[in-house]
Amino acid sequence: MTDHIRIFDTTLRDGEQSPGASMGPTQKLVMARALAELGVDIIETGFPASSQADRESTDAIAREIGAQVTLATLSRCSEADITACAKAMEKAHKPRIHVFISTSPLHRKFKLGMSEQQVVERAESAVAFARRYFDDVEFSAEDAIRTEFDVLVKAFSAAAAAGATTLNVPDTVGYTTPDEIRSLFQRLRTAVPGEQLIWSTHCHNDLGLAVANSLAAIEGGARQVECTINGIGERAGNCAVEELVMALKVRNAYFNADSGIRTERLVPTSRLLQRLTGMMVQRNKAIVGVNAFAHEAGIHQHGMLKNRETYEIMRPEDVGWPRSELVLGRHSGRAALSERLRALGFVFEEDEFEHVFSNFKSLTETQRVVNDRDLEQLILGSTASAGQGYRLASMRISDSGGQARAEVELSDPDGNRVAESADSDGPVAALFAAMSAATGIELKLESYQVHSIGMGSHARGEASLSVSFDDEEYAGVGVSRDIIEASALAWLDVANRLLRRREAEPAASAQA
Ligand code: KIV
Ligand code: ZN
Repeated sequence: MTDHIRIFDTTLRDGEQSPGASMGPTQKLVMARALAELGVDIIETGFPASSQADRESTDAIAREIGAQVTLATLSRCSEADITACAKAMEKAHKPRIHVFISTSPLHRKFKLGMSEQQVVERAESAVAFARRYFDDVEFSAEDAIRTEFDVLVKAFSAAAAAGATTLNVPDTVGYTTPDEIRSLFQRLRTAVPGEQLIWSTHCHNDLGLAVANSLAAIEGGARQVECTINGIGERAGNCAVEELVMALKVRNAYFNADSGIRTERLVPTSRLLQRLTGMMVQRNKAIVGVNAFAHEAGIHQHGMLKNRETYEIMRPEDVGWPRSELVLGRHSGRAALSERLRALGFVFEEDEFEHVFSNFKSLTETQRVVNDRDLEQLILGSTASAGQGYRLASMRISDSGGQARAEVELSDPDGNRVAESADSDGPVAALFAAMSAATGIELKLESYQVHSIGMGSHARGEASLSVSFDDEEYAGVGVSRDIIEASALAWLDVANRLLRRREAEPAASAQA
């Protein structure tokens, strides 16, 4: 019998709280639909006590996602946090609360100023209070890996006795090793009473071990893994869903465990997240990087042509890489568009689809072919950011070698036109200076890259930017036939994310 491993996806909470990955409520809803379609068991939608945006997005997701997925929200061990979760989750079909408190000596002393006994008592009373609102309660001992074993046993036993049904053992700082975490799970399962308890692992990737540690935790008895798409999350990120799931699938006989993930949805979901956040994955990222299935060396190609298994342990189509990039045009109908959108990670209700279809038809009147990038632009333009920020109305660049001038016209968030110009020693520098002047937003560039997408007459430039602002990092992308225009769109993508973030400034500053 193969054991079922529950996939607890925290892309919208732990992932989203990391620099450069912030999403607004609409983007989170788009992502939640894709996660449900991917087949995750639990979606952690946010931390309602931390911001109005998290409350709104949790409510929107709860209204839409049905009982096939459990929805979880994060809460400190405080009555105010727990009631905020209960309120935000009122409409959820299958709600869970995830309460946490730090248990390690360092956190007890410097973060909480609480004794070991106080922490255990707080955990117990919070879980008991949470049970008044929720049947499904998960308890996490933050920084569990650096906590004394006997304190962990006390905290988990108290939480279980008070009614927690899932116990999560986070490696909050990404410090553990596979052997250590495997043995920790084995010892905890023996020491903490409760046959029906689900043990959960939550590994951060500071030493690049998050996936290996999560797999080792499964060997030690964990039956829930907390992870994120593309491994996004605090600092070096969390365990990557796609890597964990494919390890379980490809080495199923070894682990004797599997997830319920529809693996052919992995690449579409990963690409959707990249578009929504502007955070692109590296080319050689396992499973979802563009090089993950590319064979360059002649000797490899020779072997592959004779038998794919010489160098391939899974097929690109198993994880959702399209065989070819389908080009849509004026004669394409609803079925073709719908199939293509699913391949890109989008899931729509019928009336929303009709709206997208009509936008698509308008685009085909001015553009002969509509490719994947155009579609992504069309959706993210109309679904995620319409009316929420600055849009590019027009731009003109003149460059006389060493002296460039940029003139830009934008429409501001209220629909008013603003025009500005700037001079500099290069076209991109002049462009960014003019955009700053028009928006009043000064961005400190951390990185700027332009890639070509596609070949020949269909080729596009994709610009990606990352910037620092008020000690936070933001990333953005822009796609256009013209690379300077792509750069302008990427700059605006970042500026609009920043504006949305400002609007949704967290009410509470606590970070998990
Ligand atoms: O990393 C961590 O400890 C967390 C907990 C809140 C589960 O994210
Ligand atoms: Zn975490």
